[in-house]
Amino acid sequence: MTSSENIIKDLRNDLAQASTEHAIAQVKSKYLGNKSYVSEQLRLLPTLSPDKRVEMGRELNVLKNQIENSITTAREELVAAQQFPVKDISLPGVGFPQAYGHMHPASRVLQETYKIFADLGFAVVDSSEIETDWYNFEALNMPATHPAREMQDTFYIKNNGKLDVLPRTHTSGMQVRFMEANKPPFKIIVPGRVFRNEDEDVTHIWAFHQIEGLVVGEGVSMAQLKGTLLHVVQGILGPEVDIRFRPSYFPYTEPSVELDCRYKGQWLELGGAGMINPIVLKNGGIDPEKYTGFAFGWGAERIAAIKYGLDDLRELWRPRFEFLEQFV
Ligand code: DAH
Repeated sequence: MTSSENIIKDLRNDLAQASTEHAIAQVKSKYLGNKSYVSEQLRLLPTLSPDKRVEMGRELNVLKNQIENSITTAREELVAAQQFPVKDISLPGVGFPQAYGHMHPASRVLQETYKIFADLGFAVVDSSEIETDWYNFEALNMPATHPAREMQDTFYIKNNGKLDVLPRTHTSGMQVRFMEANKPPFKIIVPGRVFRNEDEDVTHIWAFHQIEGLVVGEGVSMAQLKGTLLHVVQGILGPEVDIRFRPSYFPYTEPSVELDCRYKGQWLELGGAGMINPIVLKNGGIDPEKYTGFAFGWGAERIAAIKYGLDDLRELWRPRFEFLEQFV
């Protein structure tokens, strides 16, 4: 190795150790200062023969430039490191109370539910949170004066004194929309947020998530409805869980049932279901003489509350880390 190469190697080592501006200045003085090799050699130039002088002069110039460049680069790196002390920008934020996030319990229940239905061949259909009065109520056999509307008081928006669009009160509004756009047979679930004008309490919140189910085809039966719901509820809550139907009333199903599940020795209400009312099929452009279908709907937060033993649904949507961190 020539002495120039040795000097550059030593310089690199010294710069790698220099972590402050002051340390870099000391390195500079060691390699370019009065007592440095470069300065000493430059001082000797006049004593050399003209040929040697040119050759040596050129060599020393190259070396001097290399040293200066290395020092400039080291300075720039130091400034950059001071501006961004954390070099790995994928590291979690510094100083936050918790380093990692996790899925919200209601989202987790929704994701599990999608998976179980998808395994049964159901499509997961997206939908709008704003709905017209027609799809949310009228098309589902709930005209303006129907008392069943009372159960789902909402934030109506009127247009010229007439009910027009509203934040949907349930995901059932998608039933007729989907029927209009698709030919049977089909099996879908429609997850999404719904809104009710509720006085909040431990079991009622004004915005929550529902999962709507809709199956239409030839010869679709109530037995299939029950078998499907049993499979899904057991998939979410565990194989030991039983379900039962209680007679009920919804204008859009005939017959209608209330779905309960027996969980840890207790019967709990989960949601509503039934065979699709022929009036609804007709509103969706489907021939009720040829096709039958079933529908159901339940709340994701309610299932999460059962699954995780929550006694206050409102906790789910409060921004409280102490509560949410329990579900990591
Ligand atoms: N839409 C009802 C509710 O929000 C739930 C429901 C009941 C959905 C019966 C259905 C059904 O599809 O068939 O309370």
